[in-house]
Amino acid sequence: MGSTKNRLLVTSALPYANGALHLGHLAGAYLPADIYVRYKRLMGKDVLFVCGSDEHGAAITIRAKKEGISPKEIIDKYHNLNKDTFQKLGISFDFYHRTSAPLHHETAQEFFKKLLDKGGEFEERTTDQYYDAEYNQFLADRYIKGTCPHCEYEEAFGDQCENCGRDLSPTELIKPVSTLSGKKPELKSTSHWYFRLDNHEEWLRKWIQEGTLEGQAHHDPRSWKKHVIGQCLSWLDSGLQPRAITRDLDWGIPVPVEGASNKVLYVWFDAPIGYISATRQWGIDKKGDPDYWKKYWQSPDSELVHFIGKDNIVFHCIVFPAMLKAHGSYQLPVNVPANQFLNFEGQKFSKSRGWGIEQHEYLELFKSFPNKEDALRYALIRNMPENRDADFKWDDFVDYHDKELADNLGNYLNRVIVLTHKYFDGKCPSPENMPVEGLRSLFEKAEEVGRLIEKFSFKAAIMALMEISSFGNTYLQDVSPWKIFKRDPDSPLIKECIFLSLQNVAILSQLIKPFLPGIAKKMADLLGLPAASEGSIADMFEKLSSGESLINPGHKIGDPEILFAKIDDRKDRSIMDIIDIQKEKLAKIMEEQKPKQPSLKDRITYDDFTKLDIRTARILSAEKVKGADKLLKLEVDMGFEKRTLVSGIAKFFKPDEIVGQQVLVLANLAPRKIRGVESNGMVLMAENEEGKLTFVEPKGSWDIGFPVN
Ligand code: MF3
Ligand code: ZN
Repeated sequence: MGSTKNRLLVTSALPYANGALHLGHLAGAYLPADIYVRYKRLMGKDVLFVCGSDEHGAAITIRAKKEGISPKEIIDKYHNLNKDTFQKLGISFDFYHRTSAPLHHETAQEFFKKLLDKGGEFEERTTDQYYDAEYNQFLADRYIKGTCPHCEYEEAFGDQCENCGRDLSPTELIKPVSTLSGKKPELKSTSHWYFRLDNHEEWLRKWIQEGTLEGQAHHDPRSWKKHVIGQCLSWLDSGLQPRAITRDLDWGIPVPVEGASNKVLYVWFDAPIGYISATRQWGIDKKGDPDYWKKYWQSPDSELVHFIGKDNIVFHCIVFPAMLKAHGSYQLPVNVPANQFLNFEGQKFSKSRGWGIEQHEYLELFKSFPNKEDALRYALIRNMPENRDADFKWDDFVDYHDKELADNLGNYLNRVIVLTHKYFDGKCPSPENMPVEGLRSLFEKAEEVGRLIEKFSFKAAIMALMEISSFGNTYLQDVSPWKIFKRDPDSPLIKECIFLSLQNVAILSQLIKPFLPGIAKKMADLLGLPAASEGSIADMFEKLSSGESLINPGHKIGDPEILFAKIDDRKDRSIMDIIDIQKEKLAKIMEEQKPKQPSLKDRITYDDFTKLDIRTARILSAEKVKGADKLLKLEVDMGFEKRTLVSGIAKFFKPDEIVGQQVLVLANLAPRKIRGVESNGMVLMAENEEGKLTFVEPKGSWDIGFPVN
């Protein structure tokens, strides 16, 4: 089953150490990786799972500036928080490194030097870049804001528009502004190193489309997710360009070239090398061997898999592989099973709006909920955004726990344990004949779960696992040993049924470990079995396939215990109360988002309304009123006569623009002298919340002089 390579190196995207992570991050890049590595370890594979903090980049310096503290304070805080939270949620990294570590700096600099010295991979270019004269510094793309040339969103960043999602370069922005000084930045020339990504286009296309590259193990492109391949090909189709891999910044890894002071490696150049430095540090700390990392990175009998969110696809499927290939000694990833995004109650996670929930916040909120880690893991796996965006809802969270974990799995385990105690004194009965057929069918169902995990279909895998439990429940019901017992307490059918049911719950206790490690431990304890451990699922498959049992006759199991106390429990509302408060909080945010009810003027009668004589008309000419910058003097054709009106629209319209404009005029307004001009009626305008005005006009071309009722 699966691949035959000896070693497996799994990475999860290094999170930026400038903030806490929310549930969407967990579902995207960490939980799926954890399921995969846990399963592979249980299959006896030599697995290394690394991650760490991404501590460079402008986002971190911006945050530090805003808060008036040093970048170091920020990264220390969030490195520790994220590391600790992952551990509490059972994400089983073998090593959690950080890119501010000296060994990482060294590794990234060596990598850069190697490519530089090789020749042909880099190119130095001098270009004009935005510079903030007040702050005396070149501006990272993120430090520049302006209007997106594609969608006119006014808050677009220099590298990306978060409204339309397009990648931008800062010089494309309309009306660029420095986020440091708030002023328009100036262009100043500077030189940088560019990675000649364009030189790698050809082999990348073949590698992504066909899975082949000389010197690399062949991978089956059909095992890659469609949306991942789709994104890669659309990048390749639009042509790869050389990419700047250095920046003018004072935070980051210094460019290891003499004279390149104040220049650092671009954060996206150094961060993926963080996977390598993490492996190096692990090898030194855990194996005492500074070269141990090479077994995972530079040996053809090792496989590399990157878990990421969809926003990181290009870097992991195009840029980093090109870097590795350019270097020459590395294995490329065999798969990059990127996930899509998780939303929260129908909207994007947004810290500023208070929409969503962070990982550590969840743990804090649900302190008193014994199954909090596994209940969360289950809800996120059950609804994992594997191939399309998904939505986290509190109601689903409760239902998944109560209707699936409690009613199906918990109930099944409990029934099997209770029946074993009732009929066999808590000991596994000895069937008269080994039910080989029964064991075989359990094996097939169990294997299916493994197959789905191997395919990165974690949602389908956990549903297949729950199917095993439903199947077990149905089987118990079909046989109904309690009915047989009344007729014939010594019937061999009872023994066989309980024996097989015990084998089935033993299977579940093993297979559930990659998904819900806490529950797996409790299940194993209840069954009096050792917890699943390295190679134990492989052993289990081995036994089942040769018709051996997992729990042998005579084995004593523990006493029944409730595994999942329901959240939506009539007597104990304590967990439900926490959720209700969360829902109320969201409802309040929604309420605040609603457009405010305008305060309407006092009501008038129909008769009042009919006093207004509004007519269709057309502007014949317009000119400024001397000494008044808001006013235009208009000549209007009412059909039956021409009128002179004064209108306060000069800020929004130039006189020439509005000649010929159709308008509505309040025709029976008493004349009034404005700035020495007699105004005979009023042009109706609509006004938005910013005080901007627009004409109200009949649709299409419409004759003039007609009433509006
Ligand atoms: N910090 C990046 C993000 O959160 C991910 C970096 S992944 C790595 O989007 F490969 F560069 F490490
Ligand atoms: Zn845009």
